Amino acid sequence: MPAISASAPGKIILCGEHAVVYGTPAIALPVFDVSTHVTILAKPNAPTDDSLVIAPAIGLKANLSSLASDHPIKLTILLALERLEADHLPACEIQIRSTIPTAAGLGSSASTAVALTRAISSFLGHPFPADVTSQIAFEVEKMHHGNPSGIDNSVIAFEKALFYVKGAEMEFLGFKDPITLVIADTGIKSSTARVVTELRGRVENDPAFYQPRLERIGEITSEVRKTLDRGDHSSLGTLLTENHRLLAEIGVSCDRLDELTRCALDHGALGAKLSGGGRGGNMLALARPEDAAIIASALKTGGAVNTIITRVPSVRPA
Ligand code: PMV
Repeated sequence: MPAISASAPGKIILCGEHAVVYGTPAIALPVFDVSTHVTILAKPNAPTDDSLVIAPAIGLKANLSSLASDHPIKLTILLALERLEADHLPACEIQIRSTIPTAAGLGSSASTAVALTRAISSFLGHPFPADVTSQIAFEVEKMHHGNPSGIDNSVIAFEKALFYVKGAEMEFLGFKDPITLVIADTGIKSSTARVVTELRGRVENDPAFYQPRLERIGEITSEVRKTLDRGDHSSLGTLLTENHRLLAEIGVSCDRLDELTRCALDHGALGAKLSGGGRGGNMLALARPEDAAIIASALKTGGAVNTIITRVPSVRPA
């Protein structure tokens, strides 16, 4: 039976989250240690044109026709079909498997949309280029995450480190030396859309407090870019920790994130911060490669439900 497979990585935001919504830069990195994998099996002898969708991570096993058209999986498929000017999907079974925890800041929803878009377009014989895949994933993210900046779909569809400014041309980032990150999951599920919306309310009520902090986060991101370029990991760490302090001041951290950040620094991390929407989800620590396992183990003892050690290779943008 003919089968098509496609996958997509997760992502982590190194710095600049939340402020990026207000127009300052953020840096995001693909994380290849977690991924979404989609397999499509053609069912040419099926009695109807309906397709079966199986996604165990969200407990879904249903016919495509039974899903509402704004269901993220159905919406992704509809947008891909529209782009291909195809009026229907031939009968098939779509299996979606993911090792990316949901609602944790690792880009699970964008990764699903990207992997599924890649699989559908390949299944129909016209694999999309990365920019089209990214646009489709962005449409899906908009439906389900309020007013996203677009950083998740971009970094996942292009699979490259990204210096991202909302609405501006994307810039891929080069690193002088590889960096090692320890990513730790608080186990607390948090809705990014809610944290973003609540922050917007606070910014509107008290711009004098929030605006300078958001601007400083933007400056930190530009400084981080320079430290990556120079391979200055000590200064990079200091900037990441300052970024966490500012995120805590604008009210998007939580006790567990603050504790894990402290724990990482106490065990030799060069810097540490929450990552993504905050109030739960993940934090990251910049580690010397030889310290990463010790930091990961300390974070587990300190309450993290899962840790990932990831190495971001040194690359020069093409
Ligand atoms: O929670 P995540 O990893 O999807 O990241 C959200 C990043 C924010 O800056 C808070 C929101 C956005 O759309 O950029």
